[in-house]
Amino acid sequence: MANFGHEKVEKHVGLMAILIVIVISFGGLVQIVPMMYQASVVDPAPGVEPYPALELAGRDVYISEGCYNCHSQMIRPFRWETERYGDYSVAGEFVYDRPFQWGSKRTGPDLARVGGRYSDLWHEIHLLNPRDVVPESNMPGYPWLVDNMVDGQRVTASMRALRKLGHPYTDEQINAAADAVDGYNELQALIAYLQGLGVKSTTATGAP
Ligand code: HEC
Repeated sequence: MANFGHEKVEKHVGLMAILIVIVISFGGLVQIVPMMYQASVVDPAPGVEPYPALELAGRDVYISEGCYNCHSQMIRPFRWETERYGDYSVAGEFVYDRPFQWGSKRTGPDLARVGGRYSDLWHEIHLLNPRDVVPESNMPGYPWLVDNMVDGQRVTASMRALRKLGHPYTDEQINAAADAVDGYNELQALIAYLQGLGVKSTTATGAP
């Protein structure tokens, strides 16, 4: 009996399964828990703020229209990526993205740093009918967004909910949200969101 119950474990599949689960969970926790407290992952990168009301509304449009099915928002640290899209992404740029829009499908280009690359007018024409500016484009048009007005109450409610999750919105920002989006349609909100992508972080991440 010098095998310390080893035989018992081997002969009882239920017991073995439970022990396997314990060992694997422990291994997982050792890797995952320290990450939750790592400053570079949890703290916002310098300059990164919670989305202003209009951009937040635009982000909802981005998600509800499924733009992520064709566009990623994460630039990987490879030369061919950084030369095409700009500095590679760092975790601190996404702390206010719930859920994040990294994606992995790139039917279209990565959008992590598309902010400021084109004018608002270019985006407007492009979103209404992409072929008017990029003749070979296979991106669909989204003309109906012009007819949908942004719902101020919804934006206010999302900001409140996000604050509960730890986004540092102030009372003034939340109270001003409905006015800030008043009179804007979903196309304009989406453009505001796109123009804010990747321009907030003030750290040059130092592309290789
Ligand atoms: C079926 C795939 C598909 C979907 C869905 C799609 N796109 Fe695209 N997108 C593309 C392709 C392909 C291009 C490249 C050609 C072009 O510029 O139109 C592109 C280009 C873009 C560009 C220009 C990027 C650059 O750096 O030149 C922006 C901005 C953009 N899309 C935004 C959006 C938004 C916002 C949505 C959702 C409302 C969306 N796309 C949905 C395929 C898609």
